[in-house]
Amino acid sequence: MKKHVIIFEARGGTDKGQYGFRNDSKPIIDSLKSRGWTAEIIFYRDEDRGEIYRYTHDKADAYISRVNPGNLNDETGYFQMLKELVSNGIEGLPHPDAMIAYGAKNSVERLKGTEIVPEDVYTYYDFDTLKENFPKSLAKGIRVLKQNRGSTGEGIWKVDVLNKEKYKNEIPFDALLKLTEARDNHTEEKTLQEFLEFCIQYLEGNNGMLLDMPFLARIKEGEIRVLMLRNKAVNVVHKKPADQADAFSATLFSGAIYRYDEPTQWPELVRLVERMVPTIQRKLGNYDLPLIWTADFILDTDENGNDKYILGEINASCVGFTTFLELSEDIADEVLALMDAESAVNKRWAAFTR
Ligand SMILES: Nc1ncnc2c1ncn2[C@@H]1O[C@H](COP(=O)(O)OP(=O)(O)O)[C@@H](O)[C@H]1O
Ligand SMILES: [Mg+2]
Repeated sequence: MKKHVIIFEARGGTDKGQYGFRNDSKPIIDSLKSRGWTAEIIFYRDEDRGEIYRYTHDKADAYISRVNPGNLNDETGYFQMLKELVSNGIEGLPHPDAMIAYGAKNSVERLKGTEIVPEDVYTYYDFDTLKENFPKSLAKGIRVLKQNRGSTGEGIWKVDVLNKEKYKNEIPFDALLKLTEARDNHTEEKTLQEFLEFCIQYLEGNNGMLLDMPFLARIKEGEIRVLMLRNKAVNVVHKKPADQADAFSATLFSGAIYRYDEPTQWPELVRLVERMVPTIQRKLGNYDLPLIWTADFILDTDENGNDKYILGEINASCVGFTTFLELSEDIADEVLALMDAESAVNKRWAAFTR
């Protein structure tokens, strides 16, 4: 073993400290060093892809990916490189396929039929299906339509029908909509036809996709993020949208208020998530669980008037933990334990659960 880990980051973004890398990467390096390993950060760029590939292949046992694919102009090259690395024996944290399976917005739809995802959730990969289905789902109530990538609330639209008492089973294309974007909670009006055409941009490209789910009004009480280290909940972040009429966004930029809690403050939710882990893992393709990932929940009320937690999204590719840097110790332990276990396993098949 080379006892070396390479952390991939991307330049730019708002999560970087004064030296240009993520504040929570340095503690991972230090924790690995205190265990007799070394680690370094490499900034990924498509232009340097070949060189980065060769360097990582020669120098490292494992990579930790801390790039938000949504922030790359085109993620194809990055994922190709990661795939090439893992198929040549480098341990992927996470494996690129797992990153896509967990991080893409359709993970919510793939968990339909479980207690954390309602039945009326749909995905659209082409304009015809969107145009056929969305007017019907919109007739059931206020919806949230989500583009696949990003993490800033951009392209996440709350869709409400104005004068809805006029319509019954299906909303006509000339109906006027009130649209609120989660990026900044700004509102606009468009007809259904105009909005659908506007959404074509989200369907373009290899990863183009839209997730259509019911709007959960209890978002006003906050979005609850469970930060997972493999199958264990290690922290909970409560994100309360700004106190304004149309605000539904839990992003910092939109003015949401964050509170950092211990998992013990959320016993029910933590039990639920930890109990759901095997199901989540199986439904999303049986990959090894990402090292660090998050599941975001919004409260809903069931038929009996009881609280129910609904999954809004999962993030797996660039989860930050700046407020609990001591996590780096657990992360380093996990990396070493994994490498130890993997040293006995043929890495070509290591992406799947053992
Ligand atoms: N079904 C929903 N009901 C109400 N609010 C939602 C719903 N889904 C998302 N939101 C709000 O929109 C925000 C952005 O959506 P999210 O799925 O987290 O996308 P992003 O990848 O941009 O973070 C969430 O933080 C939450 O505040
Ligand atoms: Mg989010």
